[in-house]
Amino acid sequence: DWTMAAYKDEAIRKIREQVGDKQVICGLSGGVDSSVAAVLIHEAIGDQLTCVFVDHGLLRQNEVDEVVGMFRDHYNIPLIHADETELFLGELDGVSDPETKRKIIGRLFIDVFQKHANNIDGAEFLAQGTLYPDVIESVSFSGGPSVTIKSHHNVGGLPEKMGLKLVEPLRELFKDEVRALGHELGLPASFIGRHPFPGPGLAIRCPGEITREKLDILRKADAVYIDQIRKHGLYDDIWQAFVAILPVRTVGVMGDGRTYDFACALRAVTSVDGMTADYYPFSHEFLGETATRIINEVKGINRVTYDITSKPPGTIEWE
Ligand code: XMP
Repeated sequence: DWTMAAYKDEAIRKIREQVGDKQVICGLSGGVDSSVAAVLIHEAIGDQLTCVFVDHGLLRQNEVDEVVGMFRDHYNIPLIHADETELFLGELDGVSDPETKRKIIGRLFIDVFQKHANNIDGAEFLAQGTLYPDVIESVSFSGGPSVTIKSHHNVGGLPEKMGLKLVEPLRELFKDEVRALGHELGLPASFIGRHPFPGPGLAIRCPGEITREKLDILRKADAVYIDQIRKHGLYDDIWQAFVAILPVRTVGVMGDGRTYDFACALRAVTSVDGMTADYYPFSHEFLGETATRIINEVKGINRVTYDITSKPPGTIEWE
C-alpha cells in the first residue's frame, strides 16, 4: 500500500540512479514546489546539489531574505543568490503582451542558469519543481484541441545548446501531494502552507507595461492585503491571494485634494489543484477594511476592486 514515506524513498532512489556522481543545479523560486524539490534532492545527493535562486526583481516584499535565510542558514544547502533585477527589468521594459513577457522571463531564466551551471564543475543536470498540472496545462486544455493557455516558464524542456539534462522529481504530483512530501521531508508547516507563487512573479500581476514604480506599489499593497488575511485567520482557507496592479489611473479624492492614482484588484481563490478555482467569499466588512488600509497605507493607489471571477472562465493569475 502507498504512503508518502515510501514515495519519498523511491524518489530518492530514482534521483541517485539518474544523477550518479554528477553535479545538479536547482532553480529555486521561493515557492513550495522548487523548495520541496531542492530539499528532496539534497537528501538524495547532498553537496552534489547547488541551488540557484534567480532574483528577477519580480519578487514580493522580504522574499529574498526569507528564501536565502531558509536555505543557506537553516538547511545549509549551497545557494547562489543571483541578483539579476537589472537584466530582467531591462529586457521587459516597454513589453506589455502577456505571452511575450513569459517568454522573455523563461529565456532569461535559462540564460542565468546556464551562466551559473558553467561555473559549477561537473554540472550535468538541472532540477525543477515542475508539477503535473504544469505539464498538462502547457500542453493542452482539457479535452479540447491542443491550445496553449499560458507558457509556464519552467516547462518545455531545455534548449539543446544548454547541454543539461532535467531532473523533475515532482512531475507526477499534484500540489497537495507536494505539500505532504514537504511535510515528510521535515519542512516547517509555515513554509509548506505558503500560497503558490508563479515563476514569472509579479510580472504577471502587473498587466501591461512593467515599471519599477508599479512594482513598488504592488509589493506594498500585496503585503498589506496578506497581512489583513493573516490577521483575520483566513490564510489557510485560501489557495492563493494576491494583488494585481491595474494599468489604469483613476480619479479620487483624499482630504480636500484630488488624486489620480492606480487602481488595483484583490484576488483570492479556493482550489484543490489550481486547475479550477472559485473566488473566496470575503465578508463585506473584510473587503471594506482592506480597501481602506491599502488606500491609506500605500501611496500610488486610490481605488481597490475585488475580482469575483472563477476559473474557468478566468485564470487565477491575471496574465
Ligand atoms: P493560472 O493563472 O493558469 O494559474 O490559473 C494556475 C496556477 O499556476 C500558477 N502559475 C505558474 N506557476 N510558473 C509557475 O511556476 C508559471 O509560469 C505559472 N503561471 C501560473 C498560478 O500562480 C496558479 O497557482
